[in-house]
Amino acid sequence: MVVDAMVKETYNDTVVRHFAVMTVVWGIVGMLVGCLIAAQLYWPALNFDIPWLSFGRLRPLHTNAVVFAFGGCALMGTSLYVVQRTCHVRLISDALASFVFWGWQLVIVLAAITLPMGLTEGKEYAELIWPIDVLITLVWVAYGIVFFGTIAKRRVRHIYVANWFYGSFIIAVALLHIVNSLAIPTSLTHSYPIYSGAVDAMVQWWYGHNAVGFFLTAGFLGMMYYFVPRQANRPVYSYRLSIVHFWALIAIYMWAGPHHLQYTAIPDWAQSLGMVFSLILLAPSWGGAINGVMTLSGAWYKLRTDPILKFMIVSISFYMMSTFEGPMMSIKTVNALSHYSDWTIGHVHSGALGWVAMISIGAIYMLIPRTLGLKEMASMKLIDVHFWIHTIGVVLYAASMWVSGIGQGLMSRATNPDGTLTYAWVEIVKFTYPYYLVRLSGGLLCLTGMIIMAVNMVRTFQLAKGPRTVPVAPAPADNAIAGGTP
Ligand code: HEM
Ligand code: HEM
Repeated sequence: MVVDAMVKETYNDTVVRHFAVMTVVWGIVGMLVGCLIAAQLYWPALNFDIPWLSFGRLRPLHTNAVVFAFGGCALMGTSLYVVQRTCHVRLISDALASFVFWGWQLVIVLAAITLPMGLTEGKEYAELIWPIDVLITLVWVAYGIVFFGTIAKRRVRHIYVANWFYGSFIIAVALLHIVNSLAIPTSLTHSYPIYSGAVDAMVQWWYGHNAVGFFLTAGFLGMMYYFVPRQANRPVYSYRLSIVHFWALIAIYMWAGPHHLQYTAIPDWAQSLGMVFSLILLAPSWGGAINGVMTLSGAWYKLRTDPILKFMIVSISFYMMSTFEGPMMSIKTVNALSHYSDWTIGHVHSGALGWVAMISIGAIYMLIPRTLGLKEMASMKLIDVHFWIHTIGVVLYAASMWVSGIGQGLMSRATNPDGTLTYAWVEIVKFTYPYYLVRLSGGLLCLTGMIIMAVNMVRTFQLAKGPRTVPVAPAPADNAIAGGTP
């Protein structure tokens, strides 16, 4: 009887597929809004004088859509895929998993309604009004139960490293969200934060930076540690290094937040602390990235033919770039130049469009056919086209913002011998202008790539016939997973 039940147990891939599809959908929506605001910075008239199309309201819509909708669906979908495969069990509860999916979509839809209406708490990346914050908390707790509950009933002793990264992302985001969102409501749509002044700023950027560290980094590293070795069909280069990577990253990230507040009213020692921890962060970031890249040692030839691996390896390269750039930008004297410039925007998107989007796209391309009982996506050629379009798009985006940003920084700080400013503000804007067009063209390329992905996805779903269930793989007798092969 028991044996029979085990043979018949299948993975819950329905929820994974739902998240995978919505990753692509929200990717298109988020990048479309990104292109619109990029176009507005070039042609301001594109807000048509309609308040809910104004830059100030669409910008947070963009960040919420790409980070929490696109990135969030990718993280949730892949984590639920990975935890089942590496623990050799089905999710602990199908109903709760389904609640997580629909609850998260509701959060996103509510965000898409309230942000253009101008309803906001005004904290970057934590703009959503308090009732939505409460809903997020409920969904997140359910997500934690599904994830950790599945780990608890695993059939292998070892907990594969990808799950550690996903797990830390879930716990840290819960902590950040709850502490930063504490507020006293005055109406259904308005509240006051419980913190004030410099303390509010410190809490906000403790949240903001760790949203980058745990939402935009730790979870995606989990993705890297599962999908890169799987796609390359190689064990992780150094499993020992992956453990050091995990603990070092977790220990250091939490202290780096004040680098977002250099030269502000927060204590000077806190600013220096943020800088020092950011510089230290370079080491685990690069250690982990090298571990990801070196997983391909002995299999480099696969890059010639496998566009999914190309996505993953270029993604890790962008991770290395942005985690080199970030520590540099946290140095106070460098930050004095970069802070109010497009350099920050270039850094953000080399991390976001380069690292976050590319590792997600690679993982989703690998995962969709596997949850449909297919070997690969309908068209590998289209994946290759997507890879090149996206890569060129990111390079155009990031490079234009680097040039524009450093130019802005240098011009705004230039002074004449008598101490007056060399350039008027409008001259700096004029200098910046052409780069905004280059950024828009890069964004449009990335958006086109996502549309190509959607077409490929629909065609793959059409190819899938028969039952869409995959039986749970039997647990290896020797717990081979501990050797770094997921
Ligand atoms: C070692 C790793 C990193 C360090 C030390 C770091 C450091 C920094 C610094 C110093 C800033 C500018 C703060 C300011 O002047 O206001 C910044 C901004 C930012 N970084 Fe990073 N960064 C790192 C990695 C990343 C990665 C991998 C991503 C994305 C996936 C990312 C996303 C962002 C975002 C979104 C902002 C803009 C925040 C805002 O002002 O809204 N960072 N980072
Ligand atoms: C087609 C692709 C994209 C385009 C055209 C685009 C465009 C933009 C624009 C125009 C801004 C405002 C810049 C400013 O205020 O000067 C922005 C901000 C931002 N975008 Fe994107 N974006 C794209 C994709 C993404 C993706 C995929 C992510 C994350 C996964 C992302 C994350 C962000 C973040 C975090 C900010 C705020 C940065 C800050 O405050 O420093 N973007 N984006």
